[in-house]
Amino acid sequence: MVRYYLSQEKIEEIREAADIIEIIGEYIPIKKAGKNYTGLCPFHSEKKPSFTVSPTKQLYHCFGCGASGNVITFVMKYETISFIEAVEMLAKKCGVKLGKKLAEGEDKIRQELLNANDFACKFFKKNLIQESGKRAISYLKKRGINPDTIDKFGIGYAPDGWDNLLLAAQKEGISKDILHSCGLVVENEKGGFYDSFRNRIIFTFHNSIGKKIGFAGRILGDEMPKYLNISETPLYKKRYFLYGLYQGKEEIRKMDTCLVVEGYTDLLALYQFGFKNTVAISGTSLTDEQAKLIRKYTRNIYISFDADKPGKEATLRGISIFIKNGLTPYIMALRKGKDPDEIVRKEGKEAFQKLITKAEHFIDFKLRFLLSKYDLNNSVEKAEVVKEMSRTIAEVKDLTERQIWLNTISKRLSVDESILVGYRKKTKSKEQFIPVVLSLKKICYDLVTLLAMKPERYEEVVGIFEEEQLLDDITKRILTYIGEKITEGKEIDVADVINLIEDGEERKRVSATVFNIKEDFDKDDFQKMLNQYIERIKAVKLREKWVKIKKEIQKKERNGEAVRALLQEQRKIASILKTLGGNFGSEERV
Ligand code: GTP
Ligand code: MN
Repeated sequence: MVRYYLSQEKIEEIREAADIIEIIGEYIPIKKAGKNYTGLCPFHSEKKPSFTVSPTKQLYHCFGCGASGNVITFVMKYETISFIEAVEMLAKKCGVKLGKKLAEGEDKIRQELLNANDFACKFFKKNLIQESGKRAISYLKKRGINPDTIDKFGIGYAPDGWDNLLLAAQKEGISKDILHSCGLVVENEKGGFYDSFRNRIIFTFHNSIGKKIGFAGRILGDEMPKYLNISETPLYKKRYFLYGLYQGKEEIRKMDTCLVVEGYTDLLALYQFGFKNTVAISGTSLTDEQAKLIRKYTRNIYISFDADKPGKEATLRGISIFIKNGLTPYIMALRKGKDPDEIVRKEGKEAFQKLITKAEHFIDFKLRFLLSKYDLNNSVEKAEVVKEMSRTIAEVKDLTERQIWLNTISKRLSVDESILVGYRKKTKSKEQFIPVVLSLKKICYDLVTLLAMKPERYEEVVGIFEEEQLLDDITKRILTYIGEKITEGKEIDVADVINLIEDGEERKRVSATVFNIKEDFDKDDFQKMLNQYIERIKAVKLREKWVKIKKEIQKKERNGEAVRALLQEQRKIASILKTLGGNFGSEERV
């Protein structure tokens, strides 16, 4: 077995990446009940669900037997595997790279980088309170940033000059190579090094567990560039970073909402005014990784970007990233030319709170945006609005909520709900869960295997197989196996089911089907997938029937016999096929 090097951070990273609801939901059926999810405890036998999973705490707890823990301990206990094995499994599932055992010293280097950043942070802090930092202190004061914030967020000052940090660090035995790897010094053409930050206010970057991973510096005056970030380093990856997450994560969890702003100073101001549940994307456009980070703590997002053109564009982009990652964004309307920092300082806490309360759900926001662009009296433009809105509504994951939006928007646009839904079906191609070309036999093998993961639909599927005469040796064996397990009230191991398929190639294919079931597959998706398989089987069989009738008709016509009844039956089949999504028959009719 390969040995992995597992640092505390790596474990933390896996816990960040593995959403406990998704993971546990794959093992046992859990249902949303308020903020939490509940289900029957897999660790003791019970009839009423006392097993509870909290998405915001990322913990599970059984009020019946007391079992509790996080996503890793769940997998350990459920699978009865070791800690390392569980971590390995989750890492694979969530796409976190464990890497082979680190080379000797690799972890030492990481430690050295963290040390260097710690030193730099102290250095910047010291310089802020020294004589040389006077202008910086008064700048911070002018901007209303108080000593407590300065301390909590590691705000400092990089003095003017080319090598203040470099020299101080070297005195402490920190090499210029390490400083270079931290992005704190830059190499010149002659191979010498100089400080990256000179005469700038320094903002420290913390990762979600509080390690100092990087810095940004703001100029005190109006020169350019206003902000300077360190380049990416082994510790700091832009895509994964959110300013203020470390300081705000507990509050985000507690409030079950997260304010998202653009700038460092926006975040600091909001924090001071009590809006501690805030993160700043700090000038980058929002990434999937950042959305997933927030999702660990809450699903409710309040976007509070600047009210300028780039801010608006960032908002629209942000909305789709958040939705795509299963979060619900609300959009705050900031007055033109203002950022959250100015608003909260000039207009006060209540004014800002009001903006939060008045924030628009993303669907309302999208509709208003479209209506400002298109004219509903023009039928072509109206069609555009309808199309866009149906796509947006389709993004709402919760079925009940989606239905409510369908209702509302259909009224607002005066179009039938079915039209809004219809567009969705055509545009949302990812809802197609089975390959377009797949033989009937393969479809059958997939379906009976998937049944192992959804045994509730056993009777239904057996019924279809019998009715359509689809049973062969393998499917018979699999269905019998599943049936036995159900009767015995035992767990069904999909791996065992897959092993019943003798043909090696086919076994591999079915196994891939099972593994391809996406991580974010929820129970609805699973049901939809099974429905699609069943529909496909029915469609294939109907099509066979259609062809058979067609041949019969031809034969009868040749013999001069009446074909009316057959034609009628053929039409009936064609219309059923249409509802199953196929256009069978139509091409044959010509
Ligand atoms: P203040 O002017 O200090 O209030 O900052 P701000 O946050 O209001 O600035 P702005 O709205 O212009 O920018 C928002 C965020 O974008 C900043 O907090 C930075 O993270 C980032 N940003 C702005 N200007 C620059 C720049 O010149 N370089 C880099 N790397 N980032 C910038
Ligand atoms: Mn600002």
